[in-house]
Amino acid sequence: MKNYNSNIKKSISYLKNNDCVGIPTETVYGLAANAYSDIAISKIYKLKKRPTSNPLIVHYHSLESLRRDCKINKNFLKLYKKFCPGPLTFILKLKKNSLISKKVTNGGTSLAIRFPKHQLIRKILKEINFPLAAPSANISTSISPVTKQDVFDEFGKNIKYILDGGRSKIGLESTILDLTTIPKLIRLGGLNILKIERFLNCNFSYKRKISLNYPGQSKIHYSPGIPIKLNIKKPKKHSAYLLISKKKGKNKNFFYLTKNKNLDEAGKNLYNILRQIKKKKYKLIEVEKIPNTGIGLAINDRLLRASAK
Ligand code: TXA
Ligand code: MG
Repeated sequence: MKNYNSNIKKSISYLKNNDCVGIPTETVYGLAANAYSDIAISKIYKLKKRPTSNPLIVHYHSLESLRRDCKINKNFLKLYKKFCPGPLTFILKLKKNSLISKKVTNGGTSLAIRFPKHQLIRKILKEINFPLAAPSANISTSISPVTKQDVFDEFGKNIKYILDGGRSKIGLESTILDLTTIPKLIRLGGLNILKIERFLNCNFSYKRKISLNYPGQSKIHYSPGIPIKLNIKKPKKHSAYLLISKKKGKNKNFFYLTKNKNLDEAGKNLYNILRQIKKKKYKLIEVEKIPNTGIGLAINDRLLRASAK
């Protein structure tokens, strides 16, 4: 308990000093910094090697703090009450007098916001009087981190501090909805899109060509830097084979995302296993067919992008 509190204090003091801190969330670890500070935000882009045209998600503790910066609408309030805090990001219109650094949105008039559920980031957000911009804590286009060690593997000593909050429970980035007009799906993610559709009584399009119109939804992403082939029934001898069921038995090159087709579990394990495969220096990843439903949609989306050339 003593350590836990002093680690939170340490994180807060770096954040107040306009430094970046690796922070756990329930989706993936974020590279967090003061969203009201130009200096702090510039450090995020530099560390991540991210183009400044690709805007950041800002994390809030409460609705009250969000009201200072964004215009709130009915759909947002409905979804907020049902799903927040949790793995859902909203794109809202910025207020003219918002305090958000222009660098967060590249001067744009909308802002991506989220209320994370992980207790450690919530404790920090409650203590500080600014929201936290936090993209996933990986170098641009590589795999998102789900442990403190993953963040360290990405940035090494270039990052001042990483707060350990255990392995991320969801393991995939948040689902993103644009609510500036009629609700639009921007990114499949950790909140099952079918639950949102049922709740709003609507149907989203899952085709990537739609979300490709948004910055950051590029085709190549989440890449382990190894070719990936999908829907493979018979793997090659020397490839890493990703599976979701036990029927294919044991083999040194078999990596089970889940052993009983539990897609939530598969989502949680995906990035962790991709990192293991990378460390073992496999030259090819082959993937068993994964059902394109619920969290399976998000898993297939990430695998497709990781396999894009
Ligand atoms: O789960 C998550 O969302 C994690 C954790 C740390 O919260 N964060 C995350 O951030 O995945 P990032 O930067 O890796 O992905 C955010 C995506 C980017 O593709 C970015 O282009 C998009 O959100 N985005 C941010 N602001 C936007 C805006 N105003 N309009 C459209 N897309 C936006
Ligand atoms: Mg990212």
